[in-house]
Amino acid sequence: MSVIYLAVGSVTGTARIVAQAVQQQLEHAGHQVVLDENPSVGALNDSQCDAVLICTSTTGRGDLPANIIPFYAELEQQFPLQNGKPFGVISLGDSSYDATFCGAGALFEDRFFELQGSAPVPRVTIDATETVTPDEDALFWLKEWMEKAL
Ligand SMILES: Cc1cc2nc3c(=O)[nH]c(=O)nc-3n(C[C@H](O)[C@H](O)[C@H](O)COP(=O)(O)O)c2cc1C
Repeated sequence: MSVIYLAVGSVTGTARIVAQAVQQQLEHAGHQVVLDENPSVGALNDSQCDAVLICTSTTGRGDLPANIIPFYAELEQQFPLQNGKPFGVISLGDSSYDATFCGAGALFEDRFFELQGSAPVPRVTIDATETVTPDEDALFWLKEWMEKAL
């Protein structure tokens, strides 16, 4: 059994629905999930997690959803080194935004690499123009991530 800290960034709720599906699947596999819609470095540390997941949409022009901005800033300020701890990023976006497609997820992936986390599977991008089942797409990716990260 592993503990997973699951940080959610969402504006209109799609990433939240995806994160809930991810939580359910992880718990079904016997793991413990701390799903956090107001994530913070303090909560990440308190969770004593074995792995970290970020599930975030992108807003504005490649911007982070407001609810996950403080977490991103704290990661920069407090720099909690991950010492090889596995992480994964589920990135929701819309490819019609072109250059900023799934930009928020890319920012988190870069940040966790800076913090010396390890990514057993590259982040998944879920394109709102291509899928009406973002939760199923995320679960497909999660299967491989679970096999390699946990
Ligand atoms: C105002 C607005 C700005 C957006 N900007 C981007 C963007 O820059 N890049 C991107 O990939 N998707 C962008 N999107 C698309 C959303 O990320 C996508 O629809 C996502 O599924 C929304 O998830 P949420 O409901 O969890 O926020 C934008 C959507 C809106 C409404």
